[in-house]
Amino acid sequence: MAAKIIDGNAIAAQIRKEIASDIEALKKSTGVTPGLAVVLVGENPASMSYVKSKNKAAHEIGIYSEQHNLPANVPEKDLLALVEKLNKDPRIHGILVQLPLPDHIDEKKILNTIVPEKDVDGFHPVSLGRIMTGEKGFRPCTPFGIQKLLVYSGVKIAGSHVVVVGRSNIVGKPIANMLVQKEADADATVTICHSRTKDLPSITRQGDILIAAIGRPEFVTADMVKEGAVVIDVGINRIEDKTHPKGQRMVGDVKFDEVSKKAAAITPVPGGVGPMTITMLLYNTLQSARAAGA
Ligand SMILES: NC(=O)c1ccc[n+]([C@@H]2O[C@H](COP(=O)([O-])OP(=O)(O)OC[C@H]3O[C@@H](n4cnc5c(N)ncnc54)[C@H](OP(=O)(O)O)[C@@H]3O)[C@@H](O)[C@H]2O)c1
Repeated sequence: MAAKIIDGNAIAAQIRKEIASDIEALKKSTGVTPGLAVVLVGENPASMSYVKSKNKAAHEIGIYSEQHNLPANVPEKDLLALVEKLNKDPRIHGILVQLPLPDHIDEKKILNTIVPEKDVDGFHPVSLGRIMTGEKGFRPCTPFGIQKLLVYSGVKIAGSHVVVVGRSNIVGKPIANMLVQKEADADATVTICHSRTKDLPSITRQGDILIAAIGRPEFVTADMVKEGAVVIDVGINRIEDKTHPKGQRMVGDVKFDEVSKKAAAITPVPGGVGPMTITMLLYNTLQSARAAGA
């Protein structure tokens, strides 16, 4: 039977509606308007497009947003000074430094300078540590979006075996730590796989929920998936396709055509995890403003 499609666009739209009405209520009750500062270094076209989308989404939902563009050769100390200034700015509740940064800048140093109270991207070690210990804090936007996709689609997480392929600090490790927590919307048994995992298909086939965050086009094939599994495809890959007007098209880490015949539910690419990432950035900014206004 064909899998149910988990529609990231529809779920993101629903969550954005909820965020917009919560922002309205926050403004009325406390006078606080959530504020987001987005910092862009250089002119990487992909980064420019992400930053533009984030600012637009923030503006549309009622968040005050400002963009700081710095040249690619900006000295590290100037970027640190900007982050310090934003840390102290009472209008700003969330600071996002778009990655990747140029080679002469120490990415970790910059991310670690953002105060954890404004770390709406959830990349600060304090935020990541709080995920591990199950404390309140900002969840990184992509893993948070995956968790919301599962919850809003009615997928049972508690007691399920979640297999995550990929152990990056921005997707694999945080989603695994979030879903293993002893709390609502979690309580799963979690296995993390990576490039050194032996006999990967024998492990992925055990997943009631399979999360692919690998960065390899159509890597997960039907023989790697359990019949009736829920498959979340995080991958964003561009492959050559002469039949496509642009000569290329976007695919995920999962071979959608064959896996969608075996899975119970699956996210498409595009239109699955992607739309959730910015949505959870907006959500985190609202939470930060709430905490500041409380
Ligand atoms: N939708 C969104 O908003 C969103 C957000 C973030 C990322 N993404 C996409 O998600 C994908 C993953 O991103 P990422 O930043 O997590 O990537 P990453 O940092 O490159 O990590 C990839 C992970 O996959 C593992 N891996 C690579 N080849 C493998 C193989 N043959 N077998 C098993 N595991 C393998 C790597 O293992 P090792 O650790 O052993 O190298 C690594 O842990 C990318 O396509 C990215 O574009 C999408």
